[in-house]
Amino acid sequence: MKILRIILLSVIIGGLTFSSAFAMKHLPEERGKTLFNDPKLSGGTSGKSCNTCHPGGKGLEAAGDKKEWKTPAGKHSTMEEAVNTCVTMALKGKALDANSQEMKDIIAYIKSLKTKADKPMKKGY
Ligand code: HEC
Repeated sequence: MKILRIILLSVIIGGLTFSSAFAMKHLPEERGKTLFNDPKLSGGTSGKSCNTCHPGGKGLEAAGDKKEWKTPAGKHSTMEEAVNTCVTMALKGKALDANSQEMKDIIAYIKSLKTKADKPMKKGY
């Protein structure tokens, strides 16, 4: 019964693929992406998420490598401070603790944008 074996094998492979895709969700940058898209991040009441103004992280690709960051409020010497300025001014949320897991995950997401930008563009033709 070769066909049964093939079916069984596909179920096993499918299951493994599914569980590894699920495990990916638990990477810091994946958690950060979820927070980035959450308008309620840190009690935000403006209805905006980070993604509203930085869709798909656009414009933040270089932020991971910077030594000084810029927001509409001015210059910041840490990325945490820049993120918190956007959290408090744009999302109308409470500033995150610089050492909190949420802050670490958001920063991991922003840093992961660089790797995406480094990849050569896929040509559709
Ligand atoms: C209302 C729009 C808005 C929202 C919402 C917003 N930002 Fe921003 N953000 C800006 C603008 C405008 C800048 C300044 C961009 C510039 O001058 O190049 C900025 C700058 C930044 C920078 C510094 C970029 C750099 O390269 O110096 C970071 C990091 C950042 N935002 C992260 C976030 C995160 C994380 C969130 C969600 C908590 C968020 N932003 C939500 C508008 C927004």
